[in-house]
Amino acid sequence: MKIVKEFSRFAHEYNMHNIIQSKVASKLVSMLEKNHYSSVLDLGAGAGAIYENMICNNIKIDKFTALDFSREMLNLHPKGKNIQTICLDFNNSNSFKIYVDKEFSILISASALQWSTDLSAVLNSISRLADEYYFAFFTSKTFSTLHKVAGVQSPIYSQKSIFDALENYTIDRMEEIQYHLSFDSVLEMFRYIKRSGVSGGAGVLSYKEMKNIMKNYPLDYLEFEVLFIRAKIK
Ligand SMILES: C[S@@+](CC[C@H](N)C(=O)[O-])C[C@H]1O[C@@H](n2cnc3c(N)ncnc32)[C@H](O)[C@@H]1O
Repeated sequence: MKIVKEFSRFAHEYNMHNIIQSKVASKLVSMLEKNHYSSVLDLGAGAGAIYENMICNNIKIDKFTALDFSREMLNLHPKGKNIQTICLDFNNSNSFKIYVDKEFSILISASALQWSTDLSAVLNSISRLADEYYFAFFTSKTFSTLHKVAGVQSPIYSQKSIFDALENYTIDRMEEIQYHLSFDSVLEMFRYIKRSGVSGGAGVLSYKEMKNIMKNYPLDYLEFEVLFIRAKIK
């Protein structure tokens, strides 16, 4: 509940703070092999980066379903005859009961599933929905120096826990990419984290921990690690 409020509060300025997510969406879409899909489900679709990248890449889509639990984010999603926006929570397995088996040719999700409360459960409840799956997960190595300086454990899933959660999937392509994003000050880094929607990790820091990071953070950039996966169900 807290997370959806954060996204909704910053929805209007989301596009200014999504530099890394926009690279991630573009990379994930570049992994698509066909130039036509009959039905696409985008989990945590947000303002529509996946849809827009598919259109820019001249990929034809008959029916695009954009699922997100933030109405404000969905309001920013492109609209069209072939686009359905649907306001549902992917943590709730009932959200998917409306769909028949293999309703979608692909299920795609960029920069969203790090928010799942139980990744295995979400991957399990979507496992009958599509022929192919494309995921981009931020991993626990995101903000790793920041977490180290703060002395806190990353709240984001590690690579190992992501692979464990994917046990019912056959992974046929996997890529890991590290991104660095530079800032003029640590204060600006915090602002970015707060508004970008990458992780609630910095949100759980106390005032004292934040002060400590401001003093001791050794880098002038933030670190991100993203795991790109193409998979099928076993
Ligand atoms: C960082 S944004 C990424 C948006 C888009 N996929 C992109 O690549 O730009 C994460 C999105 O996931 C959505 N989200 C987070 N938790 C969710 C949940 N439990 N159910 C549905 N959507 C969720 C947020 O509202 C937000 O729009």
